[in-house]
Amino acid sequence: MTAAAKRIVLSSDHAAIDLRQSVAAHITARGWEVEDIGPTTPESTHYPKHGAAAAERVASGDCALGIVLCGTGQGIMMAANKVKGVRCGVCTDTFSAAMIRQHNNANMLSLGARVVGEGLALEIVDAFLDAEFEGGRHATRVEMIDALES
Ligand code: RB5
Repeated sequence: MTAAAKRIVLSSDHAAIDLRQSVAAHITARGWEVEDIGPTTPESTHYPKHGAAAAERVASGDCALGIVLCGTGQGIMMAANKVKGVRCGVCTDTFSAAMIRQHNNANMLSLGARVVGEGLALEIVDAFLDAEFEGGRHATRVEMIDALES
């Protein structure tokens, strides 16, 4: 296993700093190397730049996975998905969090700190990390998603 295989990048905007830090501690306790790229101060900031920064870490291969957070999880997800090679889904339930790995080979998860509480968020994170891409017919469909980028 390469070093990057258990490295995960986290970023958020100001609306999700507390939840991001909880997620970071949780994932670290699970044995992952967490690259938390902030922000650390609570001033209002712009989610697109934080989503893009995390997505670049995943797209480059430096991190196997990424988790981004904002108030709803929606805006930062949209920004992350603009980076070539990134497949990021917002999840508010554990079933979807597993399915975006199993069927969509998502390499990033987005969470809304104003939507889900900490307990559910950590369960969603676990479901995302524990699931594996199933390949097969799903690989064809993921290839079709990726082909839309070129
Ligand atoms: C910030 O107020 C809020 O718009 C942002 O965190 C996020 O919810 C956007 O999608």
